[in-house]
Amino acid sequence: MKVLTVGGGAREHTMVRTLAKNEAEIYAVMGNKNPGIARLAEEYFIESGSEIKKVVEWAEEKGVELAVVGPEAPLGKGIVDALEEKGIKCASPDKNAAEIETSKEFMRDLQARYDLPGRVEFEVFDDIEEIEDFLAHYEGELAVKPVGLTGGKGVKVMGEHLENKREVIEYCEKVLEESIGGKPKVVLEERLIGEEYTLQVFTDGKNIIPMPLVQDHKRLFEGDEGPNTGGMGSYSQADGLLPFLDQSIYDESVEIIKETLEAMRKDGRPYKGVLYGQFMLTKNGPKIIEFNCRWGDPEAMNVLPLLESDYVELCDKIAEGDISGLDVSFEKKSSVCKYVVPKGYGIDPQGGNKVVVNEEAVEEEGAQLYYASVDEKDGEIYTTTSRSLAVVGYSERLEEAEAVSERALDHVKGDDIQMRHDIGKPESIQRKLENMKKIRGEN
Ligand code: AMP
Ligand code: GLY
Repeated sequence: MKVLTVGGGAREHTMVRTLAKNEAEIYAVMGNKNPGIARLAEEYFIESGSEIKKVVEWAEEKGVELAVVGPEAPLGKGIVDALEEKGIKCASPDKNAAEIETSKEFMRDLQARYDLPGRVEFEVFDDIEEIEDFLAHYEGELAVKPVGLTGGKGVKVMGEHLENKREVIEYCEKVLEESIGGKPKVVLEERLIGEEYTLQVFTDGKNIIPMPLVQDHKRLFEGDEGPNTGGMGSYSQADGLLPFLDQSIYDESVEIIKETLEAMRKDGRPYKGVLYGQFMLTKNGPKIIEFNCRWGDPEAMNVLPLLESDYVELCDKIAEGDISGLDVSFEKKSSVCKYVVPKGYGIDPQGGNKVVVNEEAVEEEGAQLYYASVDEKDGEIYTTTSRSLAVVGYSERLEEAEAVSERALDHVKGDDIQMRHDIGKPESIQRKLENMKKIRGEN
């Protein structure tokens, strides 16, 4: 089957590799030439996925039958609506359904209107005086969120990025004046304390297939210090759970997603594709931080390569709106993903420096390598200012998967790279366990 993929990151490299393994003929649209995707694709088109008209014309010309979209921006701009209008099936949500990610106001409002589990207290503002009045009477800490998309960099939390109410007001002013996230509107919501985790599900809008859980690491530096990034790496366990949570929390999280999808249907926005729930396990149970209308990056690299079922068939059934007859399973393996990023990433990256990658040696270690944002010139790989590539170790035991990822990283060399070695290490897992105990008041 001819399949259109949109996006040029490591997440999309993972999607393309899995689709190609299941005999798809890949037609890839990407903003940068991802060497991994370029190699696997029948043909590729260097273009932003948000250039919808151009992408749809190219897809029609190539005769693609099915499309799978990686990043949120084209989904928010209605790429699925435009493709479906031309008779191309899509395993991703349309514009209205994608609002679950692209508008934090819509998402929180949906949770409130349908009284969904996992919701938090929130208010939406477009006027700074109203914010000042609200804050004058608000006790406790808050998270400040522009309503629109900010690439994971727009949220500021009191006690972490913002010291006090004055700083909250200053940041709100900035969001309103500069329309950060595309709109002069801001969501203020209660600050949650807990451990974050990701649950991704496949859905046709009615039925869901939940995947193993993953924990991402957003902070730039080891020990979860430094600024938030697009994600520095992540891990998952063979049993689908995480060290700090059990089956009952998993089931509760699945229920939250199920009820949310039901609410989307009742709201006239049936959702199909992968729905990503960013949760926080608090002392009052799982709460929703946000939803994403797509695979997570890096979370896709943890679980998609472990899919034992046919990914092309699954995407096809999602697009056709019925996954009920499918028997979908994942290999029972743990995984540890570590991103290699250019020095200064998230602060002041330079890019343009050589990285030497021995892909064969990485694979011999039992790991996989997924390219993200690099330039390839004369067969050599160079950094850009974004994340360069991800290395993922897979094994039955988490400790072994971590060791595999480290051995594989030895085969990636360069003067301009950095990474977080602590992700998935026993000490780091221990810290998360202790944090969870403290939150539950157990020590
Ligand atoms: P988001 O872009 O919504 O994923 O937010 C980015 C990060 O901000 C999350 O991964 C959390 O670490 C943090 N965050 C978002 N909302 C809250 C909240 N209500 N309470 C505490 N932290 C939050
Ligand atoms: N891992 C965070 C994201 O994909 O948005």
